[in-house]
Amino acid sequence: MENVVSLVKVSKNYVLGKTIVHALQHVSLQIARGDFITIAGPSGSGKTTLLNLIGCVDVATSGQVVINGNDTHDLKERQLTELRLNTIGFIFQSFNLVSVLSVYQNVEFPLLLQGRLSVEERKSRVMDLLKKVGIDNHSKHRPNELSGGQRQRVAIARALVTRPKIVLADEPTANLDSKTGETIIDLMKEMNELEKTTFIFSTHDARVMAHAKTIVNIADGRIVGSMSSPARKIAAKKSPAKKSFGKSEKKSPSRPVKISK
Ligand SMILES: Nc1ncnc2c1ncn2[C@@H]1O[C@H](COP(=O)(O)OP(=O)(O)OP(=O)(O)O)[C@@H](O)[C@H]1O
Ligand SMILES: [Mg+2]
Repeated sequence: MENVVSLVKVSKNYVLGKTIVHALQHVSLQIARGDFITIAGPSGSGKTTLLNLIGCVDVATSGQVVINGNDTHDLKERQLTELRLNTIGFIFQSFNLVSVLSVYQNVEFPLLLQGRLSVEERKSRVMDLLKKVGIDNHSKHRPNELSGGQRQRVAIARALVTRPKIVLADEPTANLDSKTGETIIDLMKEMNELEKTTFIFSTHDARVMAHAKTIVNIADGRIVGSMSSPARKIAAKKSPAKKSFGKSEKKSPSRPVKISK
C-alpha cells in the first residue's frame, strides 16, 4: 500500500544550554494512506516532536522524512509551506489559534490562503464544520472568549476544513467531555473511511486508541513497539478498551504491545 509518511532513522536533538536533549533517536516509521494511527507514550517521550517533524513545522537533526512522496530535506521553504497548506491539517497540542481573528475567521484562514473556493463555498464549508464540531453558535467569538475544549474544537475544524490528505492531531480529545470527544472521533472516522484521510494522533485517551488501526508505542524518543489490525482486534477482544473519554482519563501506561524489530 502507498505510504504517505516515511521516516528513516530520524533523530531530533534540542540544545538546552550545555546539554543536548535527544528527543527522538533513530526512529523509522512507515504510515500507509488511510491509516488511523495512534502514537502512545509517556509525557516527554517525543510524541509532539515526532508530529512536528511529520507536519514539517520542525526539521530533523538527521535521517530522512518523506511526506506524500516529498523528501522534506530537498524542499525549499516555499514548497514546505505549500505542503503544510495543501496536504496536512495540524491540530496542535496548544491549539495555535490566531487571537485577533474570530472562530469563523480562524477556520476560514487556510481556505483563504489556498484561494480556491468562492466566498459562498467557503462559508458553507466553514459553517458545516463548525456545526459538526458543535461550535457554530460561537462563530463570532474570539479564542480568548472560549473554554479550552471550545478552542480545541476550533483547532479541529481549522485542521479539517481543507480536507487534507494527512491530519496530525496532538492529543485532540484531551480537553473534551466524553460526548464531544465521541462526536469528534466519529467525524474523523467518517473522513478516514470516505476520503481515505490518514489520521496520526498522539493520545493517552483509551477511546481514541480503541478506534486506531495501528498503535505505535514510543518511550525515551524511541519506538518500542507497534501493533496493527487485525492483531489489534484480537488483542481488543481479549482485553476490551475502556469506553471513556477526555478530561476524566488519567494518563495511563500503554497497554502491552508486540515488540517489533
Ligand atoms: N523546543 C524544545 N527545546 C528543548 N527541549 C525540547 C523542546 N521541545 C521538546 N523538548 C524536549 O524533548 C523531549 C520530547 O518532548 P515532546 O514535547 O516531544 O514530548 P511529548 O511526548 O509530546 O510529551 P507530552 O505528553 O507531555 O506532550 C522532552 O524531553 C522535552 O523536554
Ligand atoms: Mg506533546
